Amino acid sequence: MRRVLMGLLIVVVFSVAVSYWLIFVRATNGGLAFDNKLLIPEQLFGTVVDGRRQFHLTVDEGSREFLPGKQTPTAGVNGPYLGPTVRLRRGEDVDLIVRNNLDEMTTMHWHGAHVPARMDGTPHQKIQPGETWTVSFEVHQQAAPLWYHPHPHGTTGRHSYQGIAGFMWIDDDNSEALDLPKTYGVDDIPLVIQDRLFDDDGAFVFAINQGAVYGDTMLINGTWSPFLQVESRRIRLRLLNGSNARIYYIGFDDNRAFHQIATDGGFLETPLQTNRVTLAPGERAEILIDFSDGAEAVLKSYPEAELLDTIGSFFVGLGNGHLELLKIVPQPAKRASHALPERLNTISRIKASDAAKTRPMVLGGPLQGGGPAGPGVGPPINGKIMDMERIDEVVRLGDTEIWEVSNPGGQAHPFHIHLVQFQILDRNGQRPTGAELGWKDTVLVPAGDTVRIIMPFDRYADPEVPYMYHCHIMEHEDAGMMGQFLVVEDPQKLGNVTKNLQHK
Ligand code: C2O
Ligand code: CU
Ligand code: CU
Repeated sequence: MRRVLMGLLIVVVFSVAVSYWLIFVRATNGGLAFDNKLLIPEQLFGTVVDGRRQFHLTVDEGSREFLPGKQTPTAGVNGPYLGPTVRLRRGEDVDLIVRNNLDEMTTMHWHGAHVPARMDGTPHQKIQPGETWTVSFEVHQQAAPLWYHPHPHGTTGRHSYQGIAGFMWIDDDNSEALDLPKTYGVDDIPLVIQDRLFDDDGAFVFAINQGAVYGDTMLINGTWSPFLQVESRRIRLRLLNGSNARIYYIGFDDNRAFHQIATDGGFLETPLQTNRVTLAPGERAEILIDFSDGAEAVLKSYPEAELLDTIGSFFVGLGNGHLELLKIVPQPAKRASHALPERLNTISRIKASDAAKTRPMVLGGPLQGGGPAGPGVGPPINGKIMDMERIDEVVRLGDTEIWEVSNPGGQAHPFHIHLVQFQILDRNGQRPTGAELGWKDTVLVPAGDTVRIIMPFDRYADPEVPYMYHCHIMEHEDAGMMGQFLVVEDPQKLGNVTKNLQHK
């Protein structure tokens, strides 16, 4: 008996080690031919009706040939895979009319948008099959590369994996005045980065491995092995990690330097010269790269760190291999290159002393009351697993708060808060530098880290409809690594919030 158990244990340990190795260390897709023209999502400007800009988004199933000769069943928005880039302008009133043509319930969330709770598209704003959900809000936040994706509790990962997601870009006076590349698809390029696993027939395989879904094949805007022709001048790439779980460490194969100009919630103050951008699921970055030398380059994801760290991350699931994403092929320029702007934005730092309170957010760790962890039960937040009928936090409208996000567990979690854009106060006690000085709605918290973030909760209050905070590894989120908060005018007067909770 003992021998059998030992044998079993060895088999289990061995297979866990092998799948870690396959997912994180060996992951590589080298030798792509890059012979497919990068698809560029359509833009959607909507139409103005009675002073409101209206957009129609229809979610439906479809199919597409990603791999030569194979049709993959998919889902998308206004098309078979992914959705249009929705273009919003600050100051406008917009209606987004979302129709669900799937044969199951879904929702649509505006990730990074500052909107009323009942317009947020959380698990509470269900859209049943054949139904239409209309969202109305005023765009009043600064220019930023936001995005949208489904958020039905328990199936966010599967719906997104099928292809339901898209960009939602906001422009404002500042973004319009800045001398930046902004010709869509020409020098201002949306890039949705996703890993997928295919079976022999070309169907997506949605398989949970090491707690989440990882693929070994990269799709960029739903294009496999893509190339992009650009003019030999400065180009702007808007990157979105639209993957369910994989973290990317993005750079070019020749290690060329580029400039990061924006984070999740808007422009940095000044362009930041670098040769790597870390992008966890849900995060965005905008970068400028100068192609005036006419040399081709491959956008790729590097291993998280050098060899020793890669071995270390073998055990914590952080690592990654070499993944080629997109070959960029410069052509003779028809226009002069944009100069590098000296200044992009003004970001006034929120002071820790402005905060009314500090809330701890412990990612992973033990379940409260020692409840049943196991398959389908994700890492908890503050010891709790998501419950749609429970409000976890109540925030007072108008308050600025610090959330102290700590990760005592064994793997990195990208922590996302709805409604707000926040600033990083410090990471492990160190003041932020570089891109961490930008506005964020999702922050990567590696094992062992504590990140303090600070943000105002202004404009919208609702005593009945909560917002979410969660890990943006979608399988963690679906397995309950999520909590709910209300923003209310007077937390004292709230009474029994659970009784009042409205699924609308
Ligand atoms: Cu992008 Cu609640 O998510
Ligand atoms: Cu969100
Ligand atoms: Cu997580």
